[in-house]
Amino acid sequence: MLNNRTYIFIYVLLWFIKEEIIINYDVIIIGAGPGGYSAALKAGKNGLTTLLIEKRKIGGVCLNEGCIPTKTLLYSAKIFDNAKHGEKYGITVENIQLDHEKIVKRKDKTVKILAAGIKSALKNEGVHYLEAEAKLVKDDKGHIGVWANGEEFSAKNIIIASGSSAILPPIEGALKMYSAGFVLTNREILDLNELPKTLVVIGGGVVGLELASYFNSAGAQVFVIEMLPQIGGNLDHDLATILQQNLQRKGVNFILNARVVEIKDGAAVYEQNGEIAELACDKILMSVGRYANISGMGLMEAGFECTSQGIVVNEYGETNIAGVYAIGDVNGQLMLAHTAYREADVCLNRILGIEDKVDYSIIPSVIYTSPETAGVGETEESAKKKGLEYEAVTVSMRHSGRYLAENEGGDGICKIILAKPSKQILGVHMITNYAAEIIYGAGMLIQQKTKVEDIEKIVFPHPTVSEIIREALI
Ligand code: NAI
Repeated sequence: MLNNRTYIFIYVLLWFIKEEIIINYDVIIIGAGPGGYSAALKAGKNGLTTLLIEKRKIGGVCLNEGCIPTKTLLYSAKIFDNAKHGEKYGITVENIQLDHEKIVKRKDKTVKILAAGIKSALKNEGVHYLEAEAKLVKDDKGHIGVWANGEEFSAKNIIIASGSSAILPPIEGALKMYSAGFVLTNREILDLNELPKTLVVIGGGVVGLELASYFNSAGAQVFVIEMLPQIGGNLDHDLATILQQNLQRKGVNFILNARVVEIKDGAAVYEQNGEIAELACDKILMSVGRYANISGMGLMEAGFECTSQGIVVNEYGETNIAGVYAIGDVNGQLMLAHTAYREADVCLNRILGIEDKVDYSIIPSVIYTSPETAGVGETEESAKKKGLEYEAVTVSMRHSGRYLAENEGGDGICKIILAKPSKQILGVHMITNYAAEIIYGAGMLIQQKTKVEDIEKIVFPHPTVSEIIREALI
């Protein structure tokens, strides 16, 4: 006869064996965008058995229908614009043409190369990659598992990185005209083989401005309808004004303080100052923001806490269910690819037992128009709102020799926000070529609590556009 103690021992042993059997992976990640694939790479690198599940394309929105495709298009537009206006630099080009179809093909090639790169990096790190739609399931014991491809997988840690989608607002006719292919989002517009003659862009945020900039350079007549009095959302007000003026000079039309109220077949109807107007066009780009992809994954049924912004997480990316994390756009904190990368690091560090947190105050934002804008930290507007004592130092980019050499007639600026009286750097904002490449350094200055007196210890290569920071502060 077995005594009670032996029964308990056998029961516990069986329970452990069962646990071993059902735990397939150390980490399962849902969604292979920048958040998901970088988490998978880090997990693999650290010897964790990892499964990455993606229902559409590896690389997510950023690689396939966002950051990378737009940058490819915008680079072609920049070459075209420079050649068109080459006389300023002593260059005359005749018969200059832009071949949109060829540009789209090059975009596809770039995406393909990068997708193959991610796939091979995942393979090198031993990450299992599964193309399937994943759902979260909760068993009677409250364990969360992942259902995909007709199989249930389980893991010690699950990371939800399911991203976001373009908002189709409840504007009359919007859904119908989207189905008809007249209204497009970032997904469809990047694959257009034919240029629209007239394009209406609804929303003058980042997506709207970058695509307005490309389609205008490519030859379309572009109208941006924005409901706020300025473009670029939280962009520093002076930068937004300069950017708008630059784009206007290139031919982009802005209709501000205007709200689109109806979309008809062949026109956008908007209200401005109490008046209703109609704008005929060939296509409409809907770029009024994005929503977190939280539906269709069984989140509510499994008991996850969500708001209209996304899955609720703490500072480590942990959801309300132990062992399950949410990173990237789906947690709605700051919908940017580079935020997702950082959140992936913090989440993996949490799993690995390393203390780490995202500092959202030093996440840069960039608009890749021509000229491009980049900023990090406090703007004058945010400093005022927080009641901070600050001073703003603004200098013309024309103080930089390299800027002047490369920007005939350029009107860029660099604005630095300093705390008063300490003169600690709180924010850096610039509208200039290379702004996107420089801004990470400015983020480090803020992170390291750099003061004006420390700047002269930094050696900026000369001549560079980045020297403007030294120029502004010394
Ligand atoms: P957004 O939130 O940046 O801008 C949307 C704009 O649409 C706002 O200015 C809003 O006032 C306006 N709007 C809303 N409803 C409207 C209406 N009915 N009529 C007229 N205007 C209206 O959203 P966007 O541009 O779609 O970008 C989505 C996300 O993707 C953002 O979080 C953005 O930061 C990110 N993203 C970042 C990029 C980058 O870092 N370069 C590139 C592309 C996207």
